[in-house]
Amino acid sequence: MTKIEKIVLSYSGGLDTSIILKWLQETYGCEVVTFTADLGQGEELEPARAKAEMAGVKDIRIVDLREEFVSDFVFPMLRANALYEGQYLLGSSIARPLIAQRLVDIAREVGADAIAHGATGKGNDQIRFELAVNALDPSIKVIAPWRQWNIRSRMQLLEYAEKHHIPVPSDKRGEAPFSIDANLLHTSTEGKILENPAEVAPDHVYQRTVDPVDAPDAPEIITIGFERGDPVSVNGKAMTPAALLTELNGLGGRHGVGRLDLVENRFIGMKSRGIYETPGGTILLSAHRGIESITLDRVAAHLKDEIMPRYAELIYNGFWFAPEREMLQALIDHSQAFVSGEVTLRLYKGSASVISRASPFSLYSADLVTFEESTIAFDHHDAEGFIRLNGLRLRSWAARNGR
Ligand code: ARG
Repeated sequence: MTKIEKIVLSYSGGLDTSIILKWLQETYGCEVVTFTADLGQGEELEPARAKAEMAGVKDIRIVDLREEFVSDFVFPMLRANALYEGQYLLGSSIARPLIAQRLVDIAREVGADAIAHGATGKGNDQIRFELAVNALDPSIKVIAPWRQWNIRSRMQLLEYAEKHHIPVPSDKRGEAPFSIDANLLHTSTEGKILENPAEVAPDHVYQRTVDPVDAPDAPEIITIGFERGDPVSVNGKAMTPAALLTELNGLGGRHGVGRLDLVENRFIGMKSRGIYETPGGTILLSAHRGIESITLDRVAAHLKDEIMPRYAELIYNGFWFAPEREMLQALIDHSQAFVSGEVTLRLYKGSASVISRASPFSLYSADLVTFEESTIAFDHHDAEGFIRLNGLRLRSWAARNGR
C-alpha cells in the first residue's frame, strides 16, 4: 500500500462517513482532516463537529457553500435548461464538482496528499468526485474506502462500528436505510423498495413536497425577475441566489411541484430508479424557458436546445471541469445577454405554469403577428413565395414517387 501523509475526508457526520473516518485513521495511520459542506441539505452540521472531535480530528472544516453552490453551479446549469434524459434536473450531479473543488483546495492548504470520499463503487458520485480531482490537481490521490475495504454488507458495517465504539443511532440498527442525497436544489432517494421499478413509491419517501392531491385548492401566483439569464427576484423582492432558491423550494413544496419518479441510466453502466424532489428548480426551469421565449432569437434558441442534452450528459457523467463543458458554457452564457425581464407563474397542484412574461428586450412584436391591421410592412405575397420555394423539392420528390 502506498504511504499516505495526510488525508482530507468529505465528511457528513453520518454513520457511514464516521466509519470511514475511523477506517482511514487505522488503515493509513495518518492525520485525517474532515470537510463538511453546507449545501442546504437542511441538516444540523454542528453534530458533525462533535463527532469528528470525538474521533480525534484536530482540523475540522465546516463551510457554508450555499451561495456559491447556487450562483456558480446551479444557475449556470439552469441557463442551459439542463435535463438529463429529458427529466432529471441533476441535483446531485451538480453538487459533486463543488465539493471536490473544496476538497482539493483544503488538501493544498494543509499539505495533504490524498482526499477520501464515501461514495460506493456502483454509483455516479465516485466518478464525479474523481474526474473533478483529475482535472483540478492530478497529484492528489483519491481514497474510496467502499472500493477498498472488505466490508461487504450492512451487517459487517455495523459490526465494525460496534468494534470501534462508533455510536450507531437506533434507527440505523435495523435494515439499510434509503440512500438519500439532499441539497438546496433537490432531494434524491434511492434503494430499498425503490429498487423494484414495478413497485409504487410509498408516500413517506417524499420529504420536501406535498402530494399534489393534498396541495392547496387555491392556486398561487408568483413573479420571478431575471437578469441576463439568472433569476434575481421573487414577487418584486431582490434576493441572493441561495435565498431565492430557498424561497422557491418553500413555495413549490407547498404546491407539490417538482416530484419525479425516474429510471435513469447511470454512467457506470446500470439502470437505477430514484425519486427526486426539485421544487424550486422545477419552477425556475419553467420560468427561464418563459423569459427565453420572448428574448431569444429562434435559431439561437434552437441551437441551445440542440446542445442541451450533450451539456446535461456531461454534467451527469462528471465532466464539469472538462474543456467541452467550459466551451458549451461560454456559448450558453453568451446567449443570455438579453434574457432579462419578468415571468409570472401559477403554482397549482403539482404544476408551475407560465401565465405571462415581459421584457424590455423582448423580440416579440404584437404588431407583426397580429390578425388585425398592422403598421409594420408585411407583404402577404412574400409568404406565398416562401412556401413555393420551400415546397420546390417536395414537389419534385412527390412527382418522382408517382403521387
Ligand atoms: N442517481 C442520481 C445521480 O446520479 C442521484 C445520486 C444520489 N447520490 C447518493 N449518494 N444518494 O445524480
